[in-house]
Amino acid sequence: VHPWRIGLIGFGCVGQGLYDILQQHPGSGFEVARIVVKNPTKARSLPAARFEFDAEALLADDSLDVLVELIDDADAAFRLVAGALRRGRRVVTANKAMLARHLPALVALQRAHGGTLLYEAAVCGSIPVIRTLDAYFGTEPLRQLTGILNGSSNYVLTRMGTGGTDYGPALALAQQLGFAETDPSLDMAAFDPRSKAVLLAAHAYGLFLEPEQVLNLGIEGISATDIAFAASRGQKIKVVAGLQRLPDGRVTALVTPQLLGPESPLFGVDEEFNGVVLEADFAGEQFLRGRGAGGHPTGSAVLADLAALRQGFAYGYAKTAAPPTHATDLEIEIY
Ligand code: HSE
Repeated sequence: VHPWRIGLIGFGCVGQGLYDILQQHPGSGFEVARIVVKNPTKARSLPAARFEFDAEALLADDSLDVLVELIDDADAAFRLVAGALRRGRRVVTANKAMLARHLPALVALQRAHGGTLLYEAAVCGSIPVIRTLDAYFGTEPLRQLTGILNGSSNYVLTRMGTGGTDYGPALALAQQLGFAETDPSLDMAAFDPRSKAVLLAAHAYGLFLEPEQVLNLGIEGISATDIAFAASRGQKIKVVAGLQRLPDGRVTALVTPQLLGPESPLFGVDEEFNGVVLEADFAGEQFLRGRGAGGHPTGSAVLADLAALRQGFAYGYAKTAAPPTHATDLEIEIY
């Protein structure tokens, strides 16, 4: 079996994480054949000859077995991923903002042209939550999902709490460690976990929400005094995403700071870790916890997608055998 040749688009935190993982595991069965980046003058960790600058050229290269899109710009990412799927190609992406905006179109393109798109790394870094929802809860009704979906804001809250660090320096640390988005307000104002909640709703309920249908409140207004007050009651403030199926079948979705006590499995999810509690009618409660940000944990999820693609895996979107229904066509409770 020949190693799969990867066309890598983007060499930021996650791209370098994936590259490094593959270097450390020469027997993985994958090799980075071509790397496209945007900025020709930026100093990089590999020789300049390793990089090229025309991403479109990769879409047409049939010697590549899979394209891995790991760039920041959501619009450019959509053009590339859609272009690749129009060619029926296999694609892995971690671009949650792009996916949350365009998922119905990307599902339709896969169905029309036979390509496959996987994106486990887009939600909760290393935690296999999309695969879990898609494979296990395609048929069993999920009652509720609660989760900490953003590593950076969780890291900042943790540092401000037990760490005693101020907001600014705590955020600077999250940026230095490669947890934060290029625009960290996406993390702090909870736009990033909102995108992730949209993706989870698609796999948990077959519901394609617009990002704006999910209320997001972040941590910018939370002070050390608030955190100390919570601590005095034995609680922590965490940014929690909640998806809930109501008895009448409607679904609510929101991401907001909440007070959690030790009875919640999410109480112990600190630093840049993420956690997801799934509650289903028959399975009962399950709890997934792992590193939600950073080059290696997120790169590991990309590698898991590559391995899944090689085995022929594709998302079932089990509840959406019909063409994706846009949420605005359904009766949705919006807070
Ligand atoms: N900025 C994101 C976070 C990266 O902090 O969770 C992982 O998606």
